[in-house]
Amino acid sequence: MAGQIPQRFIDDLLSRVDVVELVGERVQLKKAGRNYSGLCPFHQEKTPSFTVSADKQFYHCFGCGAHGNALRFLMEYDKLPFPEAVEQLAGRLGLEVPREGADDPRAQEREKKRKEGVNLLEVAASFYRERLKMQEGQNAQRYLVDRGLSSEVVSTYGIGYAPGGWEALKQHLSAKGIGEPVQVEYGLLIHREDTGRTYDRFRDRVMFPIRDLRGRTIAFGGRVMGDEQPKYLNSPETPVFHKGRELYGLYEARQASSKLEQLVIVEGYMDVVALAQYGIHNAVATLGTATTEDHLGRLFRLVSRVVFCFDGDRAGRQAASRALETALPLMIDGREARFLFLPEGDDPDTLVRREGSEAFQDRVTCAMPLSEFLFEQASQGRDLNTVEGRERFASQVLEALNKMPEGMLKSLLLEALAKRSGLAQEQLKGLLEKRAVSAARKDSVHWEPVEASLDEPIYETPASTERAAIRRSGDRPRRQGATQVLSTVERIVQLLLHEPKLVSVLPDTLDWLPDSEETPLCRDLIALLRAGRYRSPQVVLAHFQGSHEGQVLATLAKRELPLPKSAREGELVSLVDYLQNKRAQLTPQKELETLMQQFSALVKKQESGEKLSVEERQKFMQLLAMTK
Ligand code: UTP
Ligand code: MN
Repeated sequence: MAGQIPQRFIDDLLSRVDVVELVGERVQLKKAGRNYSGLCPFHQEKTPSFTVSADKQFYHCFGCGAHGNALRFLMEYDKLPFPEAVEQLAGRLGLEVPREGADDPRAQEREKKRKEGVNLLEVAASFYRERLKMQEGQNAQRYLVDRGLSSEVVSTYGIGYAPGGWEALKQHLSAKGIGEPVQVEYGLLIHREDTGRTYDRFRDRVMFPIRDLRGRTIAFGGRVMGDEQPKYLNSPETPVFHKGRELYGLYEARQASSKLEQLVIVEGYMDVVALAQYGIHNAVATLGTATTEDHLGRLFRLVSRVVFCFDGDRAGRQAASRALETALPLMIDGREARFLFLPEGDDPDTLVRREGSEAFQDRVTCAMPLSEFLFEQASQGRDLNTVEGRERFASQVLEALNKMPEGMLKSLLLEALAKRSGLAQEQLKGLLEKRAVSAARKDSVHWEPVEASLDEPIYETPASTERAAIRRSGDRPRRQGATQVLSTVERIVQLLLHEPKLVSVLPDTLDWLPDSEETPLCRDLIALLRAGRYRSPQVVLAHFQGSHEGQVLATLAKRELPLPKSAREGELVSLVDYLQNKRAQLTPQKELETLMQQFSALVKKQESGEKLSVEERQKFMQLLAMTK
């Protein structure tokens, strides 16, 4: 990044954009009194609890606690890092974003390259699209027709053609003044270390642009038209492309419907476009990788139901059980995951062509619920008529339940397990709790002895925080290793995370929260818990999953809380008391310091024989009275 963005520019920017307008472009808003309201884009809901205030220039959701200003909204909704959100807002107003220290030539160079990178993928995408329409793209056009794609689908998905030869794209980009290093960095050119030569990565392939949620091209997948290998070639990881996060077709699915209810995860590019050809616009594909938690986290933020599509063979079943593992921790109430197994030898592309879209839709509708798949997996290869078989079955299901957040789904599964295993539900609950405890023990990071030898309790009392604060005054070493002492705010977050219901003991207003790095997270967490939908650490973690906050919370969740349950409320209250006192002290003390400075300045002046003005004399008398 090229230098810091000056704070005054950000303030200026925020004073000029209208958050209502910005949000209104992405969420349908209705005027409701002085504010606007609509369905919250950050969680699934049927009645609007999302409000945007024109006066205060911020949004707030009473359902999930999401809130912030225009910048925060762009970061969350468009999934933009901070500097890009600033760029985006500035762009709307036609402003250049200034950078502190931007006259540093190296920083300037980096910034130029980043802009080039974003631009260059777009230029490449239109190059490929143009080539498809030209003479040299005829084979590719025929290939697409043979695969049953209409020109409409081809254009919706921006499909193109990368010409053969070695340098078609490179020459095109270079003629536009785009340097080779940046072409290499963004995966379009391959640089051979041994010969030093550079050449186009994608040659004589049908090109599928991979787009982010805003429709900007961030990478490509290219398919050969014959039998050469590899069949599909993907962009490598680049500054803007991370396979484990991106899903092919997500942008197009969102464009096709403003109210998506479910998304179907398939395996390939062709599956996505073939389904679209048949009017099924809600399919997305992972890019040659298994579904990750990041993928699922993103999808569940957009829809409440996700249907996994797998081949009917053994490999498909295996992939499905991996997907199940990944999905379990994210299954908070209101979310649904289903598993669709296709007939052997088919993929969605071949199946929808053979059976038509209605039959395919029916398969999606009837896909196996997570619960059923879970039980099926656990009973596989076991004889449930024997005690041993049932024991193994129950253990495996319990192990899965242990990964799930608290909620109705988990309770219902426990109930179903009791029925199927013949074990009493109470007994199963007991077993589950035992597992949870031992898992927590295994996970928890233990304090190193060196920390314990310090002459203060590790889990400090508010009084000892003062000492710790002095000890680490100045720059606190950043981000915790296992042994770092937590700040007061971090400890409040940790307590709330472990015991969400303690949120009820906090004072109504949060003015006691100091300005610290963790404060925004703490505020968010409190708002979320107050909204009342979160009862366990796992659900809270699931809410933040995939974000930076999520990582911070996960680290805090893993740290052991060396306090018995009964002492936690007291601890929280005293931490808040401590912060309240500290805040109250801060102001008068500062004031006194200033007064003392004024006083000694006046004393000096008088001592040096200088005459004091009338005002100065008055002030002097005043101060004298105060210091008595
Ligand atoms: P498949 O081999 O199942 O191909 O790969 P497909 O989707 O059915 O494609 P068509 O119908 O033959 O055109 C599934 C996905 O795995 C990744 C791609 O994302 C592909 O869509 N893949 C496959 C690669 O990345 N590289 C390959 O060489 C093959
Ligand atoms: Mn296929």
